[in-house]
Amino acid sequence: MEKEIVVIGLGYVGLPSVMNHVENGHQVTGFDIDQKKIDSLNQGVSYLDTMSDELIGEMLKKGTVFTTNEKLLKDKDIYIIDVPTPIDEDKIPDLSYVKSAVNLIEDKVKAGSLIILESTTYPGTTEEYLVQKFAEKGYNIGTDLYIAYSPERIDPGNRQSLSAKIPRIVAGHTKNCLAQAKAFYGDHVSAVSNLKTAELAKIYENTFRLVNIALADELQKITDNLEISVGEVLEAAATKPFGFMKFTPNLGIGGHCIPVDPYYLTWLMEQRGLDTPLISTAGQINDSMLEYHLHKINEYLSEQEKDLSGLKIAILGVTYKKNVADIRMSSVRRLMDKLGKMTAQIVAYDDVLHAYYTKDDEKIHRLEKNYHELTSFDLVIYAVDHELYEENKPKIIENSRLFYDLTIV
Ligand SMILES: NC(=O)c1ccc[n+]([C@@H]2O[C@H](COP(=O)([O-])OP(=O)(O)OC[C@H]3O[C@@H](n4cnc5c(N)ncnc54)[C@H](O)[C@@H]3O)[C@@H](O)[C@H]2O)c1
Repeated sequence: MEKEIVVIGLGYVGLPSVMNHVENGHQVTGFDIDQKKIDSLNQGVSYLDTMSDELIGEMLKKGTVFTTNEKLLKDKDIYIIDVPTPIDEDKIPDLSYVKSAVNLIEDKVKAGSLIILESTTYPGTTEEYLVQKFAEKGYNIGTDLYIAYSPERIDPGNRQSLSAKIPRIVAGHTKNCLAQAKAFYGDHVSAVSNLKTAELAKIYENTFRLVNIALADELQKITDNLEISVGEVLEAAATKPFGFMKFTPNLGIGGHCIPVDPYYLTWLMEQRGLDTPLISTAGQINDSMLEYHLHKINEYLSEQEKDLSGLKIAILGVTYKKNVADIRMSSVRRLMDKLGKMTAQIVAYDDVLHAYYTKDDEKIHRLEKNYHELTSFDLVIYAVDHELYEENKPKIIENSRLFYDLTIV
């Protein structure tokens, strides 16, 4: 049955969510506080690499509303919250966006509305920020208002992950809440018995990745010490058809999921007096990789009887991972900051980066296949193996006076 749905927060999660609900025949209002994003959507222009302008156009044609106007959110059937859940400089969870999204809808919901939090967060958030809030306002949750949690699983750079067919974990505050959420999401739902389980399952998925990537990072240090190839060790181990999953070392995990979400858990456990040393150590190993690679770059240069000071360096690839247009929490960006203080000049190129994600003062150029331009640098650091660069890697190497590959594993 067609529902009136509000999606709050139109970023990497919220905008594809709007698309899925429109495709399922619902009437959707997409709300964001960012006027620039709303203007862009209403002009039919996407700001996500995962969403084409054509898809935005189709949504508009089907009557989808993109707005910053709170008044348009009143009396809807379903409210979905897809706002950011970052950490602050001290790696403490910042729930201010969730709080403001809840404040936004507290006087907009109607009897029978279903509210679903999809943002990643620590176990207890839905209870603390939604259930308690609406219960205090006099709602009987489970009979006259329904509250559920269902984390998102999209994987930037992997278009298949945008599909509505990816299984979803869903939990409700009560059985009725769960039934409402299950009926809404339809097939591909994996229901769990309580909100905290669903919240923790999502954080555990990303913590699993952090810990395994940190292990691969440590393997990199071990193989460097043994003077063997980390990639060959990984390939060899990956021939085992069961009980092994390959993760690769890197300069430091970027994006705003894996380097963020595990700290929601360590913070919560710290509040509750439980030590979580494995997760904390994995975070520290991940954070150590930038200095480690900086050290390796210095070693490489001294083998060439050069040092960083006075060098003109080009960095190829700045986004936080291969084929992704997003620069947020990119380790390469941090590497650039560090190198910038040590060398004569740094010029960064990224032909995949979406202009939407660069700051106004940030100059990241497009190489546009002008590989000859690289000959004017003393050193080329190959930092992200975007397909476009991989296809032309021989030309890149040919045009580099010195070439340092951060992507080799
Ligand atoms: N990006 C991913 O790959 C991914 C994957 C799974 C889960 N998640 C989780 O999903 C949530 C959203 O992540 P994202 O990547 O879409 O973030 P994002 O930064 O791309 O988008 C969030 C949007 O919310 C808007 N916003 C902030 N406060 C608001 C408010 N009060 N009202 C309305 N809009 C508001 C912002 O302007 C922004 O457009 C986070 O909890 C994240 O951890 C993200």
